Amino acid sequence: MRHADRRNGIQPVMKAVAVNPGTRQVELVEQEAPTITAPTQVKLHMLDVGICGTDREICAFQYGTPPDGHAHLVTGHEALGEVVEVGSGATRVRPGDLVVPMVRRPCPHEHCVACRADRQDFCFTGDFSERGIKSLHGFMTEYVVDDERYMHVVPRALRDVAVLVEPLTIAEKALIQVDQVQQRLPWACGVVPGRPSQGCHRAVVIGAGPVGLLGAMALRARGYDTSVYSREPAPNPKADVVSAIGGHYFSAQDTSLEQLAERVGNIDLVYEATGASSIAFQMMKVLGTNGIFIFTGVPGRKAAIEVDTDVIMRNLVLKNQVVFGTVNAGVEAFETAIRDVALFQERWPAAVRALITGRHPIEAHRDLLVGQALGIKNVLTFA
Ligand code: BGC
Repeated sequence: MRHADRRNGIQPVMKAVAVNPGTRQVELVEQEAPTITAPTQVKLHMLDVGICGTDREICAFQYGTPPDGHAHLVTGHEALGEVVEVGSGATRVRPGDLVVPMVRRPCPHEHCVACRADRQDFCFTGDFSERGIKSLHGFMTEYVVDDERYMHVVPRALRDVAVLVEPLTIAEKALIQVDQVQQRLPWACGVVPGRPSQGCHRAVVIGAGPVGLLGAMALRARGYDTSVYSREPAPNPKADVVSAIGGHYFSAQDTSLEQLAERVGNIDLVYEATGASSIAFQMMKVLGTNGIFIFTGVPGRKAAIEVDTDVIMRNLVLKNQVVFGTVNAGVEAFETAIRDVALFQERWPAAVRALITGRHPIEAHRDLLVGQALGIKNVLTFA
């Protein structure tokens, strides 16, 4: 960070990666470092910020809204920071703590019972904001200030992998909901909320990107027989991660969905992590009896496709199926994700390491955000 002379004294200036939808630029900008202005705020020095499909879509100008009065949006929402300063009223975090910040902030409306209950991940009004995505600057910068209630402390031992916590929260929120839904089958597999299931379920994950692979790890940790269905033929590094965690990898290039269903048996759960609607709706046709289908991807707007709605509707009814979509995550999902990253690290250290393709300086942002997507999870590092 450097300092610049301003009329009212010396102001610290820091670098940030920003997107300007007006000029269609993705660039490094300099802006004033934030300062604590309320007692429960804390200041973080960012260490790692992960790059995901959402960031790439924002940088392709398909998504993303700068804050009011700003032409640019600082990107980045998957982060790990170190607390460097706390407000006088902060009680949950201390300087030196490593924290993962949440992404979404509540809407202002009194009648939004979700936001008023700190569950802005279920915001009813759509007027929520999201750091690095919607109306608030993100974390691809050197310093960030925010309220301590959005911070989740992670053990130091997770320093190198804690940037995976936020993308894992997507699966954690989904699996909390799966437990809620499958309490309708109390005799089937002994589902006790919050406790690992007995391992009698079979899951298919569509997509082997970070959200898919982290979802597969979360499913394996809960004892699911887990198959990952993806485009690339094996062997490849993603297929290696799947076998290292005791899952099965199937490539769409040599296995049809019908063959997949035959190999897996009754598919109890599908975790969609590609954002590709055509493969997802085809997969819905092979969802098993009493099964749940979870959508997590946000597809771009493409041409309409044909879907066999009669088969899907018949199955939904005759097989007691549930389909739900899920976005963002609440406090419980963050806390579970931190515990799970620690567990994954203990059980499959090499596979967890393999998820992080590379750590790069801020100057490398352009290739990673607008170039060809390479590897699994790329991380910008500010340490
Ligand atoms: C983020 C979520 C966010 C969603 C929609 C995802 O990439 O992980 O926190 O809610 O995008 O903006």
